Amino acid sequence: MKRSIATVFFVALAGTFALAGTKPRPRFDARLPVLGTTFHSLPAGSGKGLVEGSCFRCHSADMLVQQRLTEKQWTAEVDKMIRWGAVVKDPDKPAMLAYLAKHFGPENKFAPIRTRPSGY
Ligand code: HEC
Repeated sequence: MKRSIATVFFVALAGTFALAGTKPRPRFDARLPVLGTTFHSLPAGSGKGLVEGSCFRCHSADMLVQQRLTEKQWTAEVDKMIRWGAVVKDPDKPAMLAYLAKHFGPENKFAPIRTRPSGY
């Protein structure tokens, strides 16, 4: 009797795994780039080197090129990043903010890139 209960348990367990194996996986277009791929570099312009030097320590250009912020909003954003650990020298800040506001302001035409999760 004991053995048959164990057998039933293992058959049920195996069945559960077998069913899990047949569960349909979500489908993603395999031609899409994998999430986490770095796509962008910063456009040329004065201030670019400052931004790369300070901001790329923690994240790529992708974080910046998708923004549409006014200069005031960029000021708040950069101040927040400084509080989070970004190193920005005071005299470099105006050039950095001018660069960010010029390229990634409210008129920024960035179109998000569709991706698929890794493993698909
Ligand atoms: C010490 C690390 C660090 C540095 C240096 C840094 N950032 Fe960030 N930044 C972060 C983190 C962490 C996030 C949040 C990431 C997330 O949500 O995935 C972030 C997010 C952002 C975002 C998205 C909006 C938000 O507030 O979450 C922007 C825009 C941004 N950073 C701009 C900058 C700029 C401009 C610089 C350079 C002046 C910079 N960052 C430098 C850590 C940093």
